[in-house]
Amino acid sequence: MRIGLLGGSFNPPHRGHLEVARTVRKALGLDEVWLLPASRPPHKPGHLDMAPPADRLNMTRLLAREPGLEACAVELQRPGPSYTVDTLAELRRLHPEHEFSFLIGGDTVGELPTWKDAARLLRETAFVVVCRPGYELDEGLAHVARELGEDLAQRLRERVVTMEPRPESSTAIRRAILEGAPWEHNVTDDVADYIRANGLYRRDFVATSATVRELKQYDGQRVELQGWVYKLRAKGKIAFLHLRDGSGVVQTIVNKNEVGEESYARIKGLTQEASIRVRGTAKLDERAPGGVEVAVDDVEVISEVEGEYPISLQAHGIDFLLSHRHLWLRSTQQHATLRVRSEVIQAIHDFFYARQFVHVDAPVFTPAACEGTTNLFEVKYFDDTAYLTQSGQLYMEAAAMAHGKVYCFGPTFRAERSKTRRHLTEFWMVEPEMAFADLDDVMDLAEEFLESIVQRVLTNCQAELETLERDTSSLEKVKRPFPRITYDEAVKLLQEEGLDFTWGNDLGAPDETAISAHFDRPVLIHRWPKEIKAFYMSPDPEDERLVLGVDVIAPEGAGEVIGGGQRATDLTFLLEQIAQHELPQEAFEWYLDLRRYGSVPHGGFGLGLERLVAWICGREHVREAIPFPRTLYRKEP
Ligand code: 4AD
Ligand code: MG
Repeated sequence: MRIGLLGGSFNPPHRGHLEVARTVRKALGLDEVWLLPASRPPHKPGHLDMAPPADRLNMTRLLAREPGLEACAVELQRPGPSYTVDTLAELRRLHPEHEFSFLIGGDTVGELPTWKDAARLLRETAFVVVCRPGYELDEGLAHVARELGEDLAQRLRERVVTMEPRPESSTAIRRAILEGAPWEHNVTDDVADYIRANGLYRRDFVATSATVRELKQYDGQRVELQGWVYKLRAKGKIAFLHLRDGSGVVQTIVNKNEVGEESYARIKGLTQEASIRVRGTAKLDERAPGGVEVAVDDVEVISEVEGEYPISLQAHGIDFLLSHRHLWLRSTQQHATLRVRSEVIQAIHDFFYARQFVHVDAPVFTPAACEGTTNLFEVKYFDDTAYLTQSGQLYMEAAAMAHGKVYCFGPTFRAERSKTRRHLTEFWMVEPEMAFADLDDVMDLAEEFLESIVQRVLTNCQAELETLERDTSSLEKVKRPFPRITYDEAVKLLQEEGLDFTWGNDLGAPDETAISAHFDRPVLIHRWPKEIKAFYMSPDPEDERLVLGVDVIAPEGAGEVIGGGQRATDLTFLLEQIAQHELPQEAFEWYLDLRRYGSVPHGGFGLGLERLVAWICGREHVREAIPFPRTLYRKEP
């Protein structure tokens, strides 16, 4: 037999469908027209909702109760998009004796080339174009000719059937039912009875697009969420599906009776990280994790998971996790850490903006070292050599002479062969620099800065800190004034502790930890031996062995988070220092110009973002405080 296929959501099926089927059947001399309810009608938030698949099939059967018309469930039984080559293949498999053609609406012709399988579909089946009298097909057909070939366009042109359209669409009928307006005249009596008997289309199914984070404000309302399966537990007719949407995780409850049998079977088979869209009613419930849950009436599967998700909810080794960093990012603690990082970054910008600092970017390719020559990353720069920046400071000194108060914030690079939990080869540093500032001004700024950021995170990231199981009592103490001690005092402290430490050495991690253990908040250590600090530090007028540098050591063993100080302005001193540090003077001529043309006392500091975030989040290692860590042994993924 020659069978015409008419697709649609049939939500509900109406007299318009009936007429298309009858007209086309007659015009083309088809033996039968089969009506194919789609597995999923188009559905966007704000649309009126559909009847469950089973009801749509039943109604379609009621509509097709005359000879030559049949309802066909093939698309409802097959997951995935409807009206495709797969539908055709399935029908040919089930009914090799028949010859099938698709019927399509004229309004769709122009969109055909965007259909994924359009070309194959067009080649493999006879299409029939159904459109209103006078409907302009030329543009759509020209498009088909261009994209898919003139032969196909010609085939379509030859198979056009025109007919008067019905005034009402399915959506209009649903709206009329909901609003209590007359609607029965658009459907057959059988279908009208079915709709009434089953109370279809009586609920307002408008779903508001929401996120888990803001879900509590939608109590009692129908919402749409999109995300990934985090956890799934099915028990009889009920499935508890924890949905992760990037803003949080919420428990949704999927009831078999609500979503229909086929849909429920598919949901039950979903595994961790399958992507889905759900619709349902948000309900505040104190017993639910997060205080809110969603009673789901509709689930759409966007993509299933191939095999098993590598990072299951069990524990994994750190190497494995780092190699799967691209997926590890989705895990709750990693997610929380990067949210805190984002809040810290925003807090940094807001802090400086509120104090009239100008944000100035520093270059990444630099001609010379700023923080010592031993940890430079050398890169080919055409026929020359350049270095990845270790610090934007020198450029900020120039910018401060132009703007007064400035800061840069960007990636910095250190080819450090240290494998400690505090070192990355690529890390983000924020570096404020102020003209007309001395060491005290720099220390005041560092204190205010740290207090402001930590307190803001405490206010805005409660949920994240909870997820991280961070004991926040130590963070709450981060209030000014911070203790300030000199390097000399720090050395005395270490020696009193019985640590083997000689004056003139740099502080190692254990030394920093020992010092910070004496205080309940960050401690500032100032006035350092000249030999262990960078070339640009201002000499201490009181003691020529010292420079006016300051380091801030965070509590709880987090170590040095800030380094900075007052800058040297004396040209002769700087020239000496450059020579002593074996730096190429030519590369610093521009920097020395700053001392030649209106030099002023100035200073600033650099804060390592990852060290700060790791400390705030109570993470042992800085590698968790950056999305894709770069360390001595790892530059992947
Ligand atoms: O103490 P540093 O080396 O100071 C400077 O670069 C100055 N030029 C900053 C300035 O005054 N504008 O680095 C500053 C901060 C350190 O306190 C630490 O927090 C962080 O940068 N840092 C690192 N973080 C992660 N991995 C590394 N390898 C780091 N090296 C420094
Ligand atoms: Mg330092």
